Amino acid sequence: MTDAPLSYPGDVSPDAWSGVHRGPLRAGEWVRLVDGKGRKHNFELIEGKRFFSNKGHLEHDELIGREEGFTVTSSAGGEYLVFRPLLSEFVVSMPRGAAVVYPKDSAQIVAMADIFPGAHVVEAGVGSGALTCSLLRAVGPHGRVSSYERREEFADVARRNVTQFFGGDHPAWTLTLGDLAEELPASGERCDRIILDMLAPWDCLDAAADALLPGGIVCAYVATTTQLSKFVEAVRVHGGFTEPTPWESLVRDWHVEGLAVRPGHKMIGHTAFLVTARRMAPGQRAPLKKRRPAPGAYGPDYTGPRPPGVPDTPADD
Ligand SMILES: C[S@@+](CC[C@H](N)C(=O)[O-])C[C@H]1O[C@@H](n2cnc3c(N)ncnc32)[C@H](O)[C@@H]1O
Repeated sequence: MTDAPLSYPGDVSPDAWSGVHRGPLRAGEWVRLVDGKGRKHNFELIEGKRFFSNKGHLEHDELIGREEGFTVTSSAGGEYLVFRPLLSEFVVSMPRGAAVVYPKDSAQIVAMADIFPGAHVVEAGVGSGALTCSLLRAVGPHGRVSSYERREEFADVARRNVTQFFGGDHPAWTLTLGDLAEELPASGERCDRIILDMLAPWDCLDAAADALLPGGIVCAYVATTTQLSKFVEAVRVHGGFTEPTPWESLVRDWHVEGLAVRPGHKMIGHTAFLVTARRMAPGQRAPLKKRRPAPGAYGPDYTGPRPPGVPDTPADD
């Protein structure tokens, strides 16, 4: 280990639109201070300004010009760890209009909906813009993310958050105010991936199917089992998609200390369910499921959409 001054390859290229900087902290950048109890404070560095906490104050000028990854002590003896916020930290601390897609789920969406550099991705609703940031990171400046949001106040929050994270207007992003089910068909856009994070994604399924290119992926993020059921059955009934894949992810932290190695007490349990399905080519249908539905699955109490091949009355098993 050496404390010799670091030599940097320079800042990350602004053309990458990563939202990340290297090198000494500069005025105008956001930093994240974490105290001994894990409390977080995010603020923009402004020359001559002071940061106040229950442990006194700190001059922003003490932070500007230093390499991130250091500890500072405030006027009343509070110790703070100083780093630039990561994307996963930014989205859970930024101002919110609607509930955000949590980082564990954004990661699943980017991986399992196969968001690639250069992709054209459509998403609705934009909410607070959390998922938008991950999508823009993944498609890069040569891709395209077209976001739709029907509530103007949420669109405004998202615009501020996304612009703050990337430090300007990301060239791959467009935000349209309105309902995806109406605006997407009107736009004539065709796309590789569509992400639906809203209460009623089945209402947008026809628009999504018409816009998706063959082989494209629709991905829905829904909070409840009733939404999950309705969306999966709606995809089956539509017929222009492969059999949908539903899942959720649970993330458990671990306590690792000497001989005490055990699951942690806090866990990111249920946030929402994810469903993906691939768009078939025009006029093509995926083979029907070979397995018979579980007994009672579509019995007299089932009132949702009935997939092709499932009789109106339940089979007598
Ligand atoms: C849970 S929030 C989305 C959160 C967002 N994905 C994020 O990570 O910050 C759901 C949003 O969908 C919007 N919405 C619902 N149905 C919509 C539709 N058909 N078209 C466009 N936006 C819609 C709502 O107004 C709301 O802002």
